Amino acid sequence: MVKKNLGSAGELFPQSVFIVGSYGEDGTANAMNVAWGGECMRHEVCVNIGDHKTTENIVARGAFTVAPADAAHVAEADYFGIATGRKVDKAAGSGLTFVKSEFVDAPVIEEFPLTMECEVTSIQGDAHGARIVGRVVNTCVDDSILDEEGRVDFGKMRPIVYDSTRRIYRVVGEEVGGAWDAGKALM
Ligand SMILES: Cc1cc2nc3c(=O)[nH]c(=O)nc-3n(C[C@H](O)[C@H](O)[C@H](O)COP(=O)(O)O)c2cc1C
Repeated sequence: MVKKNLGSAGELFPQSVFIVGSYGEDGTANAMNVAWGGECMRHEVCVNIGDHKTTENIVARGAFTVAPADAAHVAEADYFGIATGRKVDKAAGSGLTFVKSEFVDAPVIEEFPLTMECEVTSIQGDAHGARIVGRVVNTCVDDSILDEEGRVDFGKMRPIVYDSTRRIYRVVGEEVGGAWDAGKALM
């Protein structure tokens, strides 16, 4: 095997395609695409966001939602990452349905099958760029992606991830082994 050094390129894969929903101070709903995010602990989600409308919104309202994008909504997910709520009404532009969360002060986008509704627990930074952690208050899920035991079935959902090397979205696919199980063969 021949290894090459790519310097500080930082090709950690996969990166998320999380659609972060928020309300502005005037109540306008917004959504942005976040690759630098993830579950940072059980019931906690972290997003790393720069100087965006979303950042102002979350700092002002103390809440946000996170929906992993699915393959059926690639165009809308990308739109949320290239248009800004500082200039356009992305809820209207996307054609998707934004409804107020029952649990936090942020919108849920109905067409995304899985959404975590979060209240902010810590902000490192400010409205111009921050690492924000939120506690998951509720998870709402479309029953079309549940299996017969009531668990989220990601095979049905077809979530997408961001491939930063080629700047494309890829769909998450086949099962290749059991967690806390495949390694037993080596024990
Ligand atoms: C694939 C993709 C991933 C992105 N990931 C991030 C991210 O993790 N953090 C960030 O600050 N901006 C990220 N962006 C850029 C924002 O989504 C973009 O600037 C967006 O317009 C911000 O929207 P807003 O101003 O309405 O909040 C990403 C954009 C794309 C297309």
